[in-house]
Amino acid sequence: MCGIIGYTGHRPAQPVVIEGLRRLEYRGYDSSGVAFVEGSSLWRVRAAGKLAALEEKLAGISPFGSLTGIGHTRWATHGAPVERNAHPHFGGLNEPVLAVVHNGIFENYREVKEQLEALGYRFQSDTDTEVAAHLIAEERRHAPDLMTAFASALRKMHGAYALVMISPEEPETIYAARLASPLIVGVGTGEHFVASDVPAFLPYTRDVIFLENGEFVRITPGAHQVFQLDTLQPVDKKVQRINWDMQSAQKGGYRHFMLKEIFEQPGVVTDCLAGRALVAGENPHGGMQPDTVRLPELDSFPVPEHIHVVACGTSYHAGLWARQLFESWARIPVSPEIASEFHYRDVLFRPGDMVLVISQSGETADTLAALRLAKARGCPVIGLCNVVGSSVAREADAVLITQAGPEISVASTKAMCSQMVMFALMALYYAARKDTLSADQRRVQLDVLRGIPAILERILPGLRDTARELSREFSMARSFFYLGRGQAFPLALEGALKLKELSYIHAEGYAAGEMKHGPIALIDPAFPTLVLAFNDALFPKTASNMQEIKARGGPIIALAAEGVNPPADRIWRLPHVPGLLAGLVALPALQLFSYEMADYLGKDVDQPRNLAKSVTVE
Ligand code: G6P
Repeated sequence: MCGIIGYTGHRPAQPVVIEGLRRLEYRGYDSSGVAFVEGSSLWRVRAAGKLAALEEKLAGISPFGSLTGIGHTRWATHGAPVERNAHPHFGGLNEPVLAVVHNGIFENYREVKEQLEALGYRFQSDTDTEVAAHLIAEERRHAPDLMTAFASALRKMHGAYALVMISPEEPETIYAARLASPLIVGVGTGEHFVASDVPAFLPYTRDVIFLENGEFVRITPGAHQVFQLDTLQPVDKKVQRINWDMQSAQKGGYRHFMLKEIFEQPGVVTDCLAGRALVAGENPHGGMQPDTVRLPELDSFPVPEHIHVVACGTSYHAGLWARQLFESWARIPVSPEIASEFHYRDVLFRPGDMVLVISQSGETADTLAALRLAKARGCPVIGLCNVVGSSVAREADAVLITQAGPEISVASTKAMCSQMVMFALMALYYAARKDTLSADQRRVQLDVLRGIPAILERILPGLRDTARELSREFSMARSFFYLGRGQAFPLALEGALKLKELSYIHAEGYAAGEMKHGPIALIDPAFPTLVLAFNDALFPKTASNMQEIKARGGPIIALAAEGVNPPADRIWRLPHVPGLLAGLVALPALQLFSYEMADYLGKDVDQPRNLAKSVTVE
């Protein structure tokens, strides 16, 4: 959840660390801090609030000349987001001998803290991290060297963490370890980095080493060595090259990352289809073949008889949307599951089951726990995720990468679009393997998919204009309902989630048919409802539900496909996309409405309060 960066090399560490933190700020942003080793001294500056508060503080003091430093941007798990709880934390009996930053949870910290207090250690913060810092210092008093002390302290810590340490005892060295939380080593020339995410050091190097659970690394400017935490045995690791374009991690002229990412969706659909949706006659092995979907990642797995689709947040909504595609096209039953519920249940896995975990970041703690549960129970796990080298990507039996590019805005937008496209491809792929749709029927759906980028390209500017208008008109609303049926229902959930997370207006997504079972009691002239009205067989039913709301004086915005005439106060037109794929053009409208509302209300669009991009705690 928190963002971590460490640097040791030939450059002044301060700007490298601050720049790294800026790129990681989406991981958490309620406080931040840096620490540097300079000769035999350890320096630290911390601030509550966003990174700008830390920068302001640093501007008031002369820059540190140090070439080795660590930084942290925090999303509180233990202790309030105040300066004394901000990282880095010092460890040492009477004076600081080391500094650490930490992401994750040190579960048994309370008992360790008691033992350390009995030994005379004093605690300045309420955090589990400070306990880790003192624990390493205490181990150092008995261990032959810093590395042994670091490892033996970590062996005493239970939980899920990434931890990075510097100490004047080895002024140019950084030690870093991971257990469940992500940590990546950047390998430069005469310099090394560690970070919780690659963009933190991408301007300097693309050569990385992924640390595995139970490993730790020792980096100096000129060298790196990975060790097993348990045995201290060196581990040979491959240096891998990352091909991300740094440009794509910038705002590219848009006011916010979220807006940029919404407008990137036509390209995202194209990228997801590229090399996967093959046009007739393209058979690379010669000869003619009909339109086909190529997903070689899945070829070696049997066609599942039942899929558990497991995810959190927006990714979960994509999973709900996928159900009908798998059921209707490939005749595969699907159970969409919220990951935080799934992995605590006594789930019944049967032969022929498959677990499909969906995660933009590939690091969401609950989703990973579900993945591990399924693997432990012998169920094949396919990961659908956006970050190459992430934990989901590495731990799943096979992974499909969604090709949405780095998503920086905390509120997920283009990642959901890419997940939906991938689901459509997967359902068509299985429909071909099972022969549940004819080649012609599959071609029709592929043609719809191929048409989506051009439609999105054409409608996005107009959608934004209408979203802006409507947000002004409805900005006084205290609550919103979002309703839909069938394929529109998961979109209603997603629309409501976007509105509440960005604009802090209370919003609930509901299956339109459920309104009569309670929620309709809330309807009055001050309670607007946004209804998704697709041009499908369910429209007459949706229209009746709208009449019921109208009869109670509730204002209605209908996000309506061409060809239907909903009984609404405001009709927001979408092009008609036939069949089950209409959601692909409704999604950006919902995103833009929330974006415009939040921006109009002066909210922090890219970093909504209390949220984080990558939720690596349960
Ligand atoms: C956080 C983000 C959401 C995201 C969810 C799941 O809550 O703020 O935007 O949908 O995590 O993340 P994942 O990376 O697993 O898709």
